[in-house]
Amino acid sequence: MSTILSIQGSPRGERSHSRRLQESFLAAWQAGAGDRQVLRREVGRVSVPAVTEGWIAAAFHPEPEARSEVMKADLATSDLLVNELFAADRLVISAPMYNFGVPSGVKAWVDQIVRIGRTFDFDPNKQGNPYTPLVRGRKALIITTRGDHGYGPGGANAHMNHADAYLRTVLGYIGITDVTVVAVENDEFGGDAFERSYQRAERTLADLAESF
Ligand SMILES: Cc1cc2nc3c(=O)[nH]c(=O)nc-3n(C[C@H](O)[C@H](O)[C@H](O)COP(=O)(O)O)c2cc1C
Repeated sequence: MSTILSIQGSPRGERSHSRRLQESFLAAWQAGAGDRQVLRREVGRVSVPAVTEGWIAAAFHPEPEARSEVMKADLATSDLLVNELFAADRLVISAPMYNFGVPSGVKAWVDQIVRIGRTFDFDPNKQGNPYTPLVRGRKALIITTRGDHGYGPGGANAHMNHADAYLRTVLGYIGITDVTVVAVENDEFGGDAFERSYQRAERTLADLAESF
């Protein structure tokens, strides 16, 4: 059984390009051979709670088994989202660029799944790198859309791209290093430049649906 965890990050519904591209990709992928399922987690149109002081105290409790009922409740959403991540062997995130980063729902989801003792470990006494990623054997696809252009590798605005660069960093931190990014640019300009970019992304995703 192959399972994709689908994270939809745009607050937009049918108007959203990143959402539409992900849905086409998922449909094409699911039509492939073998048992394939998609777990869905909406983070663009449904609020994911922000990390709180109670969350931090509970997550970093020195004895996780001794957490109080209140602490367990503080981590309930995080537990659910981390379990979803482990239930899938593939991850697809749609994330429009918002103010050079990701929309707040995607950020809130990341803050819930980057969990000490579950998706990474930290031991200040460990020689060399004190961090150990705990999510293994998974790969990710990021479908990102941008209003402007030049944010890709070598582009004039690449230094301002904190969106997919950020996702690559956090996913790598928890152990997901096989990450593919497919981007559409020029949404705010429209016209041919946008159409070409969108069609190129559609073709790339169609090819990827066979090999992902
Ligand atoms: C609040 C907000 C912030 C945005 N910030 C940026 C930005 O920093 N850079 C950019 O190129 N486009 C930016 N855009 C444009 C979106 O990235 C673009 O329209 C994208 O295609 C929207 O994705 P969607 O169609 O999946 O909703 C922003 C749009 C909104 C609504």
